[in-house]
Amino acid sequence: MPSALSYEKVSSQNSVKSDSRFGLYSDMASRFGTPFYLYDAEMLKRQANTLRSLLPADAKSRILYSFKSNPNPIVAGQLKNYGCRADLTSPGEIEAAREAGFDFGSALYGGPGKSEEELVFAISEGIRYFSIESIHDLSALREASVKSGQPVKALLRINPEEAPKAKLAMSGVASQFGFEEIDLHESGDEIMSKAGDSVSVVGIHIYWGTQIGEAEALMACFEKTVQIAEEISEKLGFPLEVLNLGGGFPWPYATKGEGSDLSSLKDGLARLQAGAGSAKSAEWWFESGRFLSASSGTLVARVMEVKKSKDREFLILDTGIHHLGGMSGLGRIPRFSIDLEVPPSRRSNEEMQVEVVGQLCTPLDCIGRRIKLPKVEPGDLVAVPNTGAYGPTASVLGFLSRPTPVEILHRGGDVISSNRLRGGHEMFQPNHHHPPHATR
Ligand SMILES: Cc1ncc(COP(=O)(O)O)c(C=O)c1O
Repeated sequence: MPSALSYEKVSSQNSVKSDSRFGLYSDMASRFGTPFYLYDAEMLKRQANTLRSLLPADAKSRILYSFKSNPNPIVAGQLKNYGCRADLTSPGEIEAAREAGFDFGSALYGGPGKSEEELVFAISEGIRYFSIESIHDLSALREASVKSGQPVKALLRINPEEAPKAKLAMSGVASQFGFEEIDLHESGDEIMSKAGDSVSVVGIHIYWGTQIGEAEALMACFEKTVQIAEEISEKLGFPLEVLNLGGGFPWPYATKGEGSDLSSLKDGLARLQAGAGSAKSAEWWFESGRFLSASSGTLVARVMEVKKSKDREFLILDTGIHHLGGMSGLGRIPRFSIDLEVPPSRRSNEEMQVEVVGQLCTPLDCIGRRIKLPKVEPGDLVAVPNTGAYGPTASVLGFLSRPTPVEILHRGGDVISSNRLRGGHEMFQPNHHHPPHATR
């Protein structure tokens, strides 16, 4: 039974060698059509190795790959090969992780509003660590664990009282994520009593936010995390076996470049770990999505039309907010800007300024405003860099029922695998009990 979050294989497995990136894009376009996401396996390896090199070796550090950034098993499977564990938040992500070959014993399952049914499913798949966001969540985990006859471990996710820096939107402000720090201080015993005998509370999880711009701000978050984790675990009387310091490691979104220099994290984290109290003997876990997956991806699309309207020019592509940046298309996050790479043969053309739009029948379908680029023509390929994270699955894929983009993993131009998300409707019978997991 197909589901919105399942992938179908796309055939065509010849090897491709190409001298230039646009040569490669045009080879791929002739074999797979446009638009497509092209993922570079070498970049996934590079990012996993770079992140690992920054983390304190003495802390048995672990990198958890956040599937929400890109759950495609062909991408996640590479990160598994390079030593990442799984950070999962839905039954569909569990299925993607299974397909990618992840070990579930070392995976973490989190997110707000978990149902008991999905927790039973996660336990049946072998997941043992859960990030717990509220008393209600802890009670649901206990019930699921008792029903499954399987003891499990919980990390208490905390929404701290104050952010160490302004503008960290997901913590220190009102949100649906985590226990209020103050509630853990004031009602810790009541909260711990909900764990019962089958759930052991073994750690703390704090995620301060995404795209934390610089190493200094990240360090401030990690320092605060250690302080809060030590205080709360002592107060509530549980051993700090696992300290999930979250992440927020930055990477550009749909624009060129590599983000800020994070190399100073290496010494900073080593110092923090060496000087820690009870957190010193914990395993330090870090979660990352975009830092690991963004740079591997390029969205390649075709120019369908260049059109003038009043005082503006519109570049109409065969991609849009149904493939990229859908959440910003809905106005939920500030509109982003993109870089658009053009074929080498166009690079000396005079410049034009365009609104980059797609084929959907809404003015919201705009992925770049007032973008300057050398003149291109209908039929040309264009490429959006750093789109390996928060691409198709963070978009309004079903809107206007256009096909989903093909996703291709390559190494050095050789196609390793290709697939695409299934779209469309499936039959759904009344009173039929559907399992919480997507079926693949
Ligand atoms: C709890 C949690 N962990 C990890 C991530 C991944 O963030 P990023 O892709 O910026 O690394 C997010 C993103 O929102 C998150 O909410």
